[in-house]
Amino acid sequence: MNKKTRISIRSLYKIFGSDPRRALELVRKGVGKTELLERHGHVLGLNDINVDIGSGDITVIMGLSGSGKSTLIRHINRLIEPTAGEIMVDGEDVLRYDDDRLRELRRKQMSMVFQHFALLPHRSVLDNTGMAQAVRGADRKDYEREAAKWLERVGLGGQGHQYPHQLSGGMQQRVGIARALTSNSPIMLMDEAFSALDPLIRTDMQDLLLELQDELHKTIVFISHDLDEAMKLADHLVILKDGAVVQQGEPQDILLNPNDPYIVDFISDINRARVLRVRSVMEAGAPDPAEGVAGEVDADDTLESVIARSGGDTSHSFRVMQNGQRVGVLNMQKLVRALVPTRAAEGGMRKRAT
Ligand SMILES: Nc1ncnc2c1ncn2[C@@H]1O[C@H](COP(=O)(O)OP(=O)(O)OP(=O)(O)O)[C@@H](O)[C@H]1O
Ligand SMILES: [Mg+2]
Repeated sequence: MNKKTRISIRSLYKIFGSDPRRALELVRKGVGKTELLERHGHVLGLNDINVDIGSGDITVIMGLSGSGKSTLIRHINRLIEPTAGEIMVDGEDVLRYDDDRLRELRRKQMSMVFQHFALLPHRSVLDNTGMAQAVRGADRKDYEREAAKWLERVGLGGQGHQYPHQLSGGMQQRVGIARALTSNSPIMLMDEAFSALDPLIRTDMQDLLLELQDELHKTIVFISHDLDEAMKLADHLVILKDGAVVQQGEPQDILLNPNDPYIVDFISDINRARVLRVRSVMEAGAPDPAEGVAGEVDADDTLESVIARSGGDTSHSFRVMQNGQRVGVLNMQKLVRALVPTRAAEGGMRKRAT
């Protein structure tokens, strides 16, 4: 993971309504989303958002419908103007940009992929894919070559002459991704890009995105309301509720250390064995135990795969390896404990006791 910040969002507020400035004063005094709507007729879209988006990372923003995900991502390319706050991209304050600079930001530095593909129906797949470059005035030959290259890369080689309606939803979404890649922008904003797809195709698209990201190291902001998707894709996970960040951090860490009952609820149904990795549960740097180890596992293995390896025997420990180096020890009893969400377990016991 890369620690350099590419996009920095500071004290960002967005209030929808006739007098957002006055409403902001109320919000700063502690008025919440429900009260602001019911008593003052304003919608609290975003409430004091502070997020750093790392260069080369996939930052996933998640939350229930209406929690402010789209409002947040649209601030990054200023499709929405904030009520208050700061948005820095590559060290520059985009709120100070004039129209020309803003247009350049949207054309060159960022590309956007939506849930509903937003392809132009009367343009061929190849033209749709090369659109951003065409708008920039690139030579047709050049952008067609680039577009064809990325179509090939997303599994749509030879489909360039088709029209969008001749493609399935999954194929159209691939065109959306090829278009973003052809635009060659270092930042990709993806708002529920995979949410309209069937589960199997969705999994394929997630794998494709990770595979491309391994090579390209784009800065990706990805919105999802699916926790499994978020856990799979995110380097950094931001969870929103009522326009505010409830918790953000490394996704495995959030799963193991939820800081709010809302998060506990949110993560309660996830298959922890399939999502948690050895690196999150191991004792880092620990020596092999005196009684020896049952074998070696990789730091990035899922707990599920280790359970399968152990044959269900919880008395073992495994040596943990990463890039050919030993990095720690995984104790099976610790693994089993990590499968039980602590606070949820406490909650369950409290319920039975009363
Ligand atoms: N143009 C607008 N005018 C008034 N309220 C708005 C506007 N756009 C968004 N909102 C409100 O802001 C809040 C956040 O909306 P947003 O679209 O960002 O949610 P979301 O998390 O993207 O939801 P979904 O998962 O349904 O896409 C909601 O309460 C919504 O009603
Ligand atoms: Mg949305």
